[in-house]
Amino acid sequence: MKITVLGSGSWGTALSMLLCDNGHQVTLWSRHEAKARQMTESRCNPLLPQRQLPQSLTITAGLECLSGADLIVFAAPSFAVRDTARLAAPYLAAGTPLVSVSKGIEKETHLRLSQIIEEETKDICPIVVLSGPSHAEEVSLRQPTGCVAACQDKTMAELVQNTFMNEYFRVYTSPDMVGVEICGAMKNVVALCCGISDGMGHGDNTKALLLTRSMLEMTRLGHAMGGTALTFSGLAGMGDLIVTCTSMHSRNRRAGILIGQGKSPQQAVEEIGEVVEGYYAAQSVKELSGSLHMELPICDAVYDVLYHGADPQDMVGRLMTRERKEEVGWY
Ligand SMILES: NC(=O)c1ccc[n+]([C@@H]2O[C@H](COP(=O)([O-])OP(=O)(O)OC[C@H]3O[C@@H](n4cnc5c(N)ncnc54)[C@H](O)[C@@H]3O)[C@@H](O)[C@H]2O)c1
Repeated sequence: MKITVLGSGSWGTALSMLLCDNGHQVTLWSRHEAKARQMTESRCNPLLPQRQLPQSLTITAGLECLSGADLIVFAAPSFAVRDTARLAAPYLAAGTPLVSVSKGIEKETHLRLSQIIEEETKDICPIVVLSGPSHAEEVSLRQPTGCVAACQDKTMAELVQNTFMNEYFRVYTSPDMVGVEICGAMKNVVALCCGISDGMGHGDNTKALLLTRSMLEMTRLGHAMGGTALTFSGLAGMGDLIVTCTSMHSRNRRAGILIGQGKSPQQAVEEIGEVVEGYYAAQSVKELSGSLHMELPICDAVYDVLYHGADPQDMVGRLMTRERKEEVGWY
């Protein structure tokens, strides 16, 4: 297949390598001419220094690479998905499958990223979401990884499964796009929270408490949006939560650690340097849950730390001294 990957950050690059391994003819698009040239000449993305780019991979800053593509992957950071889809729209042929691999919810509109792509491309192409516990660094090193391809159209989900799956990348299908996308956005907020907890010196008990109770918050919000509760215990939910909240590959967790150690959220995000999706998702989740009159104590606490200068120590007190509750309800 002829495949174009839009976005030359670490995830777009790792997926391009994987698609080359699968024998596809892949073009990686970068919005920066200089970056495309530098990657072409060095055969390396500095974010993934451990592996050379395959010789068969073409890197370009020209959007003409979209013409004639059999499949297109959207891998820009969430805040850039709308712009990227708008740029791509004039080059798309109706019916070309689009794969959304970014994670987030748009501020103000509260749209999921697949909905933004659908809006900007005038709904002429089917969209599949690919998500799960998948650090680019590890996928680029061909470490065994599992993800979910979600689309209401089973044939499309299976097309993506067949295109991406290989001996080190296992892909399951799911009809639940909403659940999978809400998981992907919210787990980054939880990762920031777990990082803050780690940075404050709290241990495994605290992390287990945060992970488990935030799973409930993700499920509650996702279910209210139309997602299926079971999705949240799958790869895109629990799987991604585990990987993001426990790994030093996670920029969200690393940003949280810096905040827990006393840095301001702005300093932390700047120090990480690359996109910290949880920072944006915390605001979108707050707006979204507010519009649904839903209380999400852990996500709310993260939001207050990030956007209202709340002291993490005060947030621990707020969470631990909430009214007494049943865990899942008496039956
Ligand atoms: N890195 C991972 O392991 C991983 C895994 C799964 C999903 N994702 C998701 O993939 C998305 C991209 O993440 P990443 O890790 O590749 O990011 P990154 O920080 O490595 O790279 C971001 C890229 O986006 C480009 N960019 C910045 N502003 C832009 C704009 N306005 N328009 C177009 N491009 C712009 C940058 O030049 C850079 O190449 C995120 O939503 C992330 O949550 C990442």
